[in-house]
Amino acid sequence: MSPPGLFNPWNPGLMWHWKKRLFGLFEVYERFGMDTVSVVPYAYGNPMIYTANFEIFRQVLAGGVKTPWIKHPGTTFQEWGVNVHTAKKEEWKRHRRITGAAFNNNLYTHIWEQTVQAYYDWTRDEGWSATEFASIPVIQTVTSKLTFLIIVVCGFGLNTSWSDEAHTDTGNMTIPEAMRILSLPSPFKYLPKPMMQLPFKALREFRSVRQVVDKYMRERVNERQAYVRTQVAMNEEGDRDMFSLLVRANGNDVMNGSKQTLSDSELMSNVFLMLFAGYESTAHTLAATFALLAVHPEVQDDIYSQILDVVGLDRDPTANDYHNLNKALYAYFEGTRMFPTVVAIFREAGEDIPLPIPVSLTSEEKTTLVVPKGTIVALDVLGYHYNPHYFPDPTKFIPSRWEGDAKGDTLAAFGHGPRICLGRRFSTTEAVAFLTMCLRDWVVEPLLQEGETIDQWRSRVLDGRFFLVLGVKNVPVRLRRRRAV
Ligand code: HEM
Repeated sequence: MSPPGLFNPWNPGLMWHWKKRLFGLFEVYERFGMDTVSVVPYAYGNPMIYTANFEIFRQVLAGGVKTPWIKHPGTTFQEWGVNVHTAKKEEWKRHRRITGAAFNNNLYTHIWEQTVQAYYDWTRDEGWSATEFASIPVIQTVTSKLTFLIIVVCGFGLNTSWSDEAHTDTGNMTIPEAMRILSLPSPFKYLPKPMMQLPFKALREFRSVRQVVDKYMRERVNERQAYVRTQVAMNEEGDRDMFSLLVRANGNDVMNGSKQTLSDSELMSNVFLMLFAGYESTAHTLAATFALLAVHPEVQDDIYSQILDVVGLDRDPTANDYHNLNKALYAYFEGTRMFPTVVAIFREAGEDIPLPIPVSLTSEEKTTLVVPKGTIVALDVLGYHYNPHYFPDPTKFIPSRWEGDAKGDTLAAFGHGPRICLGRRFSTTEAVAFLTMCLRDWVVEPLLQEGETIDQWRSRVLDGRFFLVLGVKNVPVRLRRRRAV
């Protein structure tokens, strides 16, 4: 990915991780007989260490505030200042403690209920109440709309619904629409600040959307703080969205005179972060899960019978059912394993660090590699997820492999250790609720082109696509109703 490399026609570029994910005679790790290798650029750039070994993931990601491994969070998450993603050492601990308090059962129940409601609104708006077959040309349009809706309602407390159109209340667009535009992967986010001022139309539009959201957020933070303080003072229960819970957790500390609080700008930076950190990831992963399920009707039947056992047909599933609906959860874990949006997690050695690594792919024997200060270690999430040593038959969709690992602790897609993704349960809650609602009513099938076989659909669709994060290609599916209405 170095500048000269970009002009090399054989350079797999951003798809490197995807193309090299498999283990096999001619693939990187197998070729060198190790699952930890040093990658040395031909012409430009520094050597890096790539690893698909989970023991090394654990070692590198294990340390708390005193870890010698440095996390570089990337420019997108720094836009609004210091937050739990960008903070380091003691500062991170303070951010994590307060933001972590917002991720509680109240929030998960709220997410669950809103997801169930969104499912009903979606199918009603589509007019599918008595339909036997329904076509969805691109499932990502649905998963993206869902996860964005959930983050603005449950994350930010906006009063909007599936059916709301994107019309004006500030200038030309609604706040949810402005937030959506701002949260989409955009190359503008990577431009240095002075370049953002260049007089191009697209840049001007991007700037103005940002200003609209910025101004709106600042006003809401002030408003919400005052509101939550009154609620706390009057001992009232308060709202369940993440923003209110965050303001409340911080407010409680402020009132207790604790020094461990967030400033207004830190609070806002965290709210922005939550809005933009995970909704696209969840949308991509859910789309991949739908695609995999479409070619695995037997897995759907298995999930369906569990839904019948746990929920039945006469009531809606509730957040209390989450732990008993683990077959839907395992399908989502498996989708996350095969299409992890974050393909690698990077850490820089802050000092010379000894790292015990296995001497070969098959050996238990270890040798010590001293990683020199300044070296970047890429924890190759994709490589690990396709490492047959950990996941036998890694190219096969086998949700039952997660039985016995109910929290997905061996999944690396959400990171690992103290800095593991704060939104992991947020993401799995909406995924399990949505899959449960869909699979109870419908069988998901591939939407085939004329003359296309299921195998051809599989090779056309079940492939990676990379734009800042990894996703599956556009997924066309058909829903077939399970029971007559
Ligand atoms: C499929 C969905 C998601 C994936 C794959 C994902 C992935 C990740 C990964 C890999 C990390 C760790 C990065 C590192 O250690 O360098 C992370 C951190 C984080 N994620 Fe997620 N994420 C998802 C959803 C979410 C959601 C929905 C939210 C919030 C609502 C969220 C909020 C965060 C935050 C705040 C952190 C930083 C935690 C810290 O540094 O203490 N994520 N995520």
